[in-house]
Amino acid sequence: MTKFSYSLNATDGKARTGVISTPRGDIRTPAFMPVGTAATVKAMMPESVAATGADILLGNTYHLMLRPTAERIDRLGGLHKFMNWDKPILTDSGGFQVMSLAGLRKLTEKGVTFKSHIDGSSHELTPERSMEIQQLLGSDIVMCFDECPALPADKDRIAESMRLSMRWAQRSRDAFGDRPGHALFGIMQGGLEADLREESAQALREIGFDGYAVGGLAVGEGQEKMFDCLDYAPGFLPEDKPRYLMGVGKPDDIVGAVARGIDMMDCVLPSRSGRTGQVFTRNGVVNIKNARHADDPRPLDEACTCPACSNYSRAYLHHVFRSQEMISGMLLTWHNLHYFQELMQGMRDAISEGRFAEFEKTFHETRAQGDI
Ligand code: GUN
Ligand code: ZN
Repeated sequence: MTKFSYSLNATDGKARTGVISTPRGDIRTPAFMPVGTAATVKAMMPESVAATGADILLGNTYHLMLRPTAERIDRLGGLHKFMNWDKPILTDSGGFQVMSLAGLRKLTEKGVTFKSHIDGSSHELTPERSMEIQQLLGSDIVMCFDECPALPADKDRIAESMRLSMRWAQRSRDAFGDRPGHALFGIMQGGLEADLREESAQALREIGFDGYAVGGLAVGEGQEKMFDCLDYAPGFLPEDKPRYLMGVGKPDDIVGAVARGIDMMDCVLPSRSGRTGQVFTRNGVVNIKNARHADDPRPLDEACTCPACSNYSRAYLHHVFRSQEMISGMLLTWHNLHYFQELMQGMRDAISEGRFAEFEKTFHETRAQGDI
C-alpha cells in the first residue's frame, strides 16, 4: 500500500512545489482544498469538484459529529463512500468550529463541552474523541485537536491557550497511534507573537507529525499582520513536511502565503461567494447582481474554460442570480472553484520553472482594485 509521503520537487525563493502521496491519490502542492463541511461542497456534484482540478476536500468533525454523526457515517462505509468522493479528504478537528459556532462552551484541560447550534443538545470534544471521530469518518489527513483564542487577546492568554493546544497535540498523537496510509498534522498556535510561534513549532516537532499547520491566523487581524507572521512562522517548521495554512483565503492572501512557504490552504470563500453572487476572475471581482450586467452578452471571464464562462453570458448569470434560481449558485461556485484551482496550477508551474516573482507581479498587475 502507498504510504503517506511528501516530496518537495522545486523551490523558488520561499515558494515550494511538490506532491503529497496518499493511498487515495496524489495532492499537488501548493494545493487549495474546497470546503465540504456537511459532506458536500455546496451546489457542486463531487465529479464537478474534481473537474475543477481539486485533489483533496476538507470536511468538518464538528458538523458531521452532530449530523448525521460519525457512527452513522462509519456504518454506511465512511465519508468517502457516503459523499461519493474517492480522492483524499482532510478533516478539521472540531475545536475551532466549536468556538465559532456552538452555544454555551466550557473549556477545561480535558477538552470542551458545548451545545449544538442545530438543536441545543450537549456534547463533548476531547483530543481522544476528535481522533476517534476522524477515524470513523475515514479521514486521510487528520488534524490535531486544538484551541484558537479570538484575536486581539493579551499575550498571557495566547501563551496559555497555545500551551494547552500543545498538550492536546501530544494527546492527539497518542490517541491517533500508528495508522499506515493516514496522516496526522499538528497545528501551530501563538497568535502574532514570534517567540510563542517558535515555542509552539518546537513542541510540535518534538512530538513529530506528518505535516504541520499554521493555525490561529485569518481571524480578523488583517492581511498585513498575517503576512508579517507568515514571514517567519513557516521557517520554524520542518522543510521536508507539508505546511498548511488554515482558513485562507482571498486570491491575494493565497498568493502571498505561497510566496512565504505555505503548501496547502482551505477556505469557504469560492463556494460561499458563488452563492452570494461574488465572482473571482484574473481581472478582479465581479458582483453579478449589479444591474450593469443585465444586458452584457460577454462571459464572466473571456479566458476561463469553466462551464459558466463557456456557455453563459453575464446577462444570463445576472438573471438567474436575481431570480434566485439554483443554477446560479451552481454555475458561480463552479467558476470560482475553477479560478482558484487555475491559480494554484499557475503557481505550481511558475515555481517549477523558477519564475514565481514574475507570476506574482503579473497577478497583481492584471487585477483591478474595484469591481469589474
Ligand atoms: N481553521 C482556521 N483556523 C484554525 C485553527 O487555528 N485551528 C483549527 N483546528 N482550524 C482552523
Ligand atoms: Zn469561468
